[in-house]
Amino acid sequence: MARSAEEFDRWYADRTDSPVADALVRRVLGLPPGLQSTSLLSGAGLDEVVAELGLRDGHVLLDLACGRGGYGLEIARRTRCRLAGLDFSPVAIEQARRRAQVLELADRADFRVGELTETGLRAASVDAVLVVDSLQFAESIPDALRECRRVLRAGGRIVVTCWEASDPSDERLSKRMRQVDLLSQLPLAGFVDVEVTDKPAWRVAEKALWEEALTIGAGDDLAMQSMQEEAQRVLATFDGLRRVLATAFTPSSDQVPSA
Ligand SMILES: C[S@@+](CC[C@H](N)C(=O)[O-])C[C@H]1O[C@@H](n2cnc3c(N)ncnc32)[C@H](O)[C@@H]1O
Repeated sequence: MARSAEEFDRWYADRTDSPVADALVRRVLGLPPGLQSTSLLSGAGLDEVVAELGLRDGHVLLDLACGRGGYGLEIARRTRCRLAGLDFSPVAIEQARRRAQVLELADRADFRVGELTETGLRAASVDAVLVVDSLQFAESIPDALRECRRVLRAGGRIVVTCWEASDPSDERLSKRMRQVDLLSQLPLAGFVDVEVTDKPAWRVAEKALWEEALTIGAGDDLAMQSMQEEAQRVLATFDGLRRVLATAFTPSSDQVPSA
């Protein structure tokens, strides 16, 4: 079900050599110039995510499964928060570190290799956790959410962008996608005030991206070839998934039972 770090390493190495893929994603998703995304969160979606995170100068954001660090770095730039970025692909982490230097954010950004279920961060050490389009890759979603809960301070926030199956018994969809059920999984991991909202407008932007990717001659561009394979796969079952934004909090200190 899970994909390996080595597979993602190859995917990121191919992506480095493809300005075409990056330019296409940025244009169709309406992302800020220079933001390196390897997901499907649009510029408008990012604005909503930033508002939900409620970050201030000096807060610490964990961008979990951050890839090349694009969204976390943009959020650090806008909010002046400190950034911890974590991904299991060493190639992605190296690219994120380089990007932080180019954007002159290296003094506020710390990127490390780690697992969705085992971040290596101290308990209660971050103010907010963001997981963009990656939670479905966890070996165990409940374990990954418990790890988010562990590293968040009391009253901290989690924001997750993901997809859920419209019908979890739909066997056209991968098991990975069918296991996502945030309205149940977030409370079980100890989160409160859980909200899961459908985002049909985000889905429209995604569809436009996949459809346009198929119109471009990929030639020997490995990232475009891989994007086109994914486009065909995704469009074949596009109606089977809902796009969701989930937000939740850890209990505030007065809600945490004393030992
Ligand atoms: C679709 S990409 C999204 C990357 C980034 N969040 C973004 O939006 O640009 C999924 C990311 O999840 C990471 N990933 C997958 N499984 C993981 C795991 N078990 N632990 C940590 N990272 C993982 C991959 O390396 C990849 O960077």
